[in-house]
Amino acid sequence: MMDQLELEGGCAVVTGAGSGIGRALALEAARRGLNVALSDIAPEALAETLAMVEAAGGSGMARTLDVRDAQGLELFARDVENAFGSPALVFANAGVLKYGSTIRPDLSVWRRTVEVNVLGPVNTVHAFLGRMVDAARPAQFVITGSMGSLVSVPELASYTASKHAMWALADSLAIELADQDAVGVSLLCPPRVDTPILNESEARIRSAQGEEAARSLRRSAMTPAEVASCAFDGAIARRLYITQQIEGIAPLLRQRIAKLIDL
Ligand SMILES: NC(=O)c1ccc[n+]([C@@H]2O[C@H](COP(=O)([O-])OP(=O)(O)OC[C@H]3O[C@@H](n4cnc5c(N)ncnc54)[C@H](O)[C@@H]3O)[C@@H](O)[C@H]2O)c1
Repeated sequence: MMDQLELEGGCAVVTGAGSGIGRALALEAARRGLNVALSDIAPEALAETLAMVEAAGGSGMARTLDVRDAQGLELFARDVENAFGSPALVFANAGVLKYGSTIRPDLSVWRRTVEVNVLGPVNTVHAFLGRMVDAARPAQFVITGSMGSLVSVPELASYTASKHAMWALADSLAIELADQDAVGVSLLCPPRVDTPILNESEARIRSAQGEEAARSLRRSAMTPAEVASCAFDGAIARRLYITQQIEGIAPLLRQRIAKLIDL
């Protein structure tokens, strides 16, 4: 059984830190006294997050980086270690979402989604995790999954398939990390969160069901700050699964398992 994670003097790495949940994770890290090492594919948004961290009294570094670039991530991991030592937290968070028919799949959407949402976290594991295990500093590697890691959504097969893969990645890592006490893994499964990734869902609901329904989508969403706070609490407690509002999908999950094992 791993002890609670001690963050004191540590650093938090966040991919996809330019917006939404990643930005909130960066701010939560600063609030909890950690240095931050931020990356995003969008340079201006990333610079804005670092400025917000600094305005909140935090400090750290930022690197414009595409998570599809394994070599860039490796250089980033080396530079982070040189600047701050081995990280206490790594959030493999960058992700994309695009709707489309599953019957007539858009192959370019599938390719991009798998490259960013699956190979992105794998590249992040590749760059950071081995070094973290070698350093043996108590740490947690947090992969941003989704409710879509656990249940499927129509016209979002590329996204849910990519997020299901994160469930398998986190579980496999948990098994392989079990023989050491320093580094653990978590799968963060947020429900709907009010970030720009919801823009497409909102536009679809607006055109199908009207303005009020589109507004209620945003209203029912958690804030990125709420998710970031839960993510830190779950990582500190070394939980494998960090979920919020899981009761909302519990019936679907139960049905799925029951079908599978023919209960
Ligand atoms: N918002 C939700 O409802 C929700 C729910 C569950 C899970 N998630 C997951 O949370 C994570 C963050 O999403 P968000 O809601 O904050 O969305 P967002 O669009 O606000 O932020 C995503 C960030 O990732 C960056 N990014 C995209 N492609 C990248 C790449 N190739 N390399 C590096 N950075 C890249 C974007 O520039 C952006 O800053 C994603 O993995 C998403 O799937 C979101």
